[in-house]
Amino acid sequence: MASISIPSSKTIIFLLLILFLLGVSCCSASREPFACDPNDKTTRGLSFCQTSLPIEERVKDLIGRLTLQEKVRLLVNNASAVPRLGIKEYEWWSEALHGVSNVGPGTKFGGHFPGATSFPQVITTAASFNASLWESIGRVVSDEARAMYNGGVAGLTYWSPNVNILRDPRWGRGQETPGEDPVVVGTYAASYVKGLQGNDRNRLKVAACCKHFTAYDLDDWNGVDRFHFNAKVSKQDIEDTFNVPFRMCVKEGKVASVMCSYNQVNGVPTCADPNLLKKTVRAQWRLDGYIVSDCDSVGVLYDAQHYTSTPEEAAAVAIKAGLDLDCGPFLAVHSENAVKKGLLSEIDISSALSNTLTMQMRLGMFDGEPSAQPYGHLGPKDVCTPAHQELAHEAAVQGIVLLKNHGHSLPLSTHRLRTVAVIGPNSDVNVTMIGNYAGVACAYTTPLQGISRYTRAIHQQGCADVACKDDKLFNAAIDASRHADATVLVMGLDQSIEAESKDRTGLLLPGRQQELVSKVASAAKGPIILVLLSGGPIDVSFAKNDNRIGGLVWAGYPGQAGGAAIADVLFGKHNPGGKLPMTWYPQDYITNLPMTAMDMRSSPSNNYPGRTYRFYEGPVVYPFGYGLSYSKFLLSIASAPTVFSVPVDGHRKTAQNTTTLTSKTTISDKAIRVTHTRCNKLSLGLHVDVKNVGSRDGSHTLLVFSTPPTGHGHWAPHKQLVAFQKVRVAAGSQQRVRISIHVCKYLSVVDRSGIRRVPLGQHNLHIGDARHSVSLQAATFGVIKS
Ligand SMILES: *[C@@H]1O[C@H](CO)[C@@H](O)[C@H](O)[C@H]1NC(C)=O
Ligand SMILES: *[C@@H]1O[C@H](CO)[C@@H](O)[C@H](O)[C@H]1NC(C)=O
Ligand SMILES: *[C@@H]1O[C@H](CO)[C@@H](O)[C@H](O)[C@H]1NC(C)=O
Ligand SMILES: *[C@@H]1O[C@H](CO)[C@@H](O)[C@H](O)[C@H]1NC(C)=O
Repeated sequence: MASISIPSSKTIIFLLLILFLLGVSCCSASREPFACDPNDKTTRGLSFCQTSLPIEERVKDLIGRLTLQEKVRLLVNNASAVPRLGIKEYEWWSEALHGVSNVGPGTKFGGHFPGATSFPQVITTAASFNASLWESIGRVVSDEARAMYNGGVAGLTYWSPNVNILRDPRWGRGQETPGEDPVVVGTYAASYVKGLQGNDRNRLKVAACCKHFTAYDLDDWNGVDRFHFNAKVSKQDIEDTFNVPFRMCVKEGKVASVMCSYNQVNGVPTCADPNLLKKTVRAQWRLDGYIVSDCDSVGVLYDAQHYTSTPEEAAAVAIKAGLDLDCGPFLAVHSENAVKKGLLSEIDISSALSNTLTMQMRLGMFDGEPSAQPYGHLGPKDVCTPAHQELAHEAAVQGIVLLKNHGHSLPLSTHRLRTVAVIGPNSDVNVTMIGNYAGVACAYTTPLQGISRYTRAIHQQGCADVACKDDKLFNAAIDASRHADATVLVMGLDQSIEAESKDRTGLLLPGRQQELVSKVASAAKGPIILVLLSGGPIDVSFAKNDNRIGGLVWAGYPGQAGGAAIADVLFGKHNPGGKLPMTWYPQDYITNLPMTAMDMRSSPSNNYPGRTYRFYEGPVVYPFGYGLSYSKFLLSIASAPTVFSVPVDGHRKTAQNTTTLTSKTTISDKAIRVTHTRCNKLSLGLHVDVKNVGSRDGSHTLLVFSTPPTGHGHWAPHKQLVAFQKVRVAAGSQQRVRISIHVCKYLSVVDRSGIRRVPLGQHNLHIGDARHSVSLQAATFGVIKS
């Protein structure tokens, strides 16, 4: 023990001095200008600092002043300062997947910014199927990010969201994604990006980034890692599945950046593929921003993949393919020599820089004092506000999915239950709840703490951790459940099982978790509820089929307020309305399925099952879109067209001719190329009545699936999501919902050559139990008005 001593007067003066200095630093805790400091006489008059000039002109002026040596040092995430032009160094790499994160070196917590609001992991937020929630979260995250930038501890360029498709249930990064459906992932991307960036193109709040382009959804499986993986992908699957979210992110979300991935696609590293970067992202989708590499992926394509024989060639091939910024040092080290060797011209480098510098100008980085700018008022008081933390709680509540409710075991009643046994390795966790790419949360409510707000909880871990290697703690857990009025088991996974660089090897609960659940189920006195924390799906057939286990709830990784949200759902304060954004496959599904097999479509002749609900038709534990409520909703179609005309571009003559023009791909039925139609803004509208016949208010998500006409054999999915909309309906009342389906975007399918077409004929729409058929017909030549 230390004894308490009386401080000397010198010490007191010293302490006062420290307090004074802290006070000073507190109240001037704002960032110095990145460039164009109004007090710097040497730069004040330069054109690139003139906010009255168009950004294009300012960028051109700046590039004209830079030497080649200065330029190459701006091609990397750790961009050097250019002191003679009054430009400071800048770290481009920050992350904000579901809250401001310190995974990238551009952001640090501490001082006035000890933490930030930590929203649920993306897979959980996706389960809400609520696009306005996704945008609201983006707005809150960018408020906090700007505040931290103003305080000098964060950047303005955030390499989020991750919009790869959750193709294989084992993927360790599946948790970061909005699931397996391309339209849901794309809608999430566009909504979250809009929330982050705000809606003024020339005054971006922060710059978002959709990653990892493309067909990147394997981390480390059976000796194949992402740095060496060559994804063999058909043109059809690229267009139909892998690229859909990226296209929506760029075209609808107007994202500021796209990140290329580590892997190769059909033998070419994505960061060195001009077809993907220059042709698709920039020319076809018109990215208005910059393309960045994944971290060290330019190094990887040289060192690990040996794609080029010299580092200079690697630098040249990446920049020429359309890469603008390297996360990693490679381009700063090798680009100058690449120019000297004639592999690259200085113009190529300037053109890359013009994309990154334009972005910095749109972010206001060349506009002088940060505090004088549109978001300059944001500071520490705008981070972790009660409203922000309440939105994190709301997001968790909306994302929780009720999978089973046998005999109305849920909601639990506080009147009848005096004690609840709370068991399991995830029952009292905090950081587990925020998943990966997280920051430091403002505060946590663990499941145990949440449940304790409603009733007296008796806590037992049951397993030391999620690996659950032994049964040493089983007896105490069983004993607790024997004496409590109800039992809640909080089981599942964490980052030791599924993570970046770690794909799962199986789909079952790890170690002896299942055994613990079953043993508790045999002994427990009252109702038994199983709550799962995980990113990827788990084969919990044993619990689904065991009616001693009354309730089954998937909470994903529910974020900082996850425990409060779980308890609110269990005790009925909130009526669950989340739906699974991915298929829950049985363990058998993966037995003979290499993770490296990229084909989406099934192939019965070689026992290939196909992937995701769109192509896989075998047994599931729970299907995509599944989720129960404490209420019951009845749906009926109030009005919908039975025939719908698709105008065909006049000079293409008739649909018949159009089909004939491109019939290399044996098309049995008519299907018009989307590029030959005039249906850019054409949408099919239907009205659906949603009646809540239960006794509780609740939200219901309408998932509209379409089965395309038969006859497109192998190229159409057997069904696909074409629209979704969430609606709140009070108990006993009815709401009419208008749904519009963009015909060319969503009712189209992709043929084997990767061409998107609208199949003519009978499309069968299904929304829950409601069914409707609509016949698409081509409007004949001459009827078309342009
Ligand atoms: C960034 O570059 C600067 C200057 O070159 C160097 O001092 C600093 O350590 C670098 N930071 C990182 C994170 O690499
Ligand atoms: C999170 O949980 C760990 C382990 O129980 C504990 O040591 C830590 O203090 C908790 N952190 C917070 C912020 O509650
Ligand atoms: C294509 O259109 C032209 C003119 O309308 C018609 O004469 C011709 O028969 C059509 N061809 C086919 C294969 O339908
Ligand atoms: C969607 O989320 C927003 C934001 O939290 C919320 O206000 C709204 O009620 C949600 N919509 C439905 C139908 O639940």
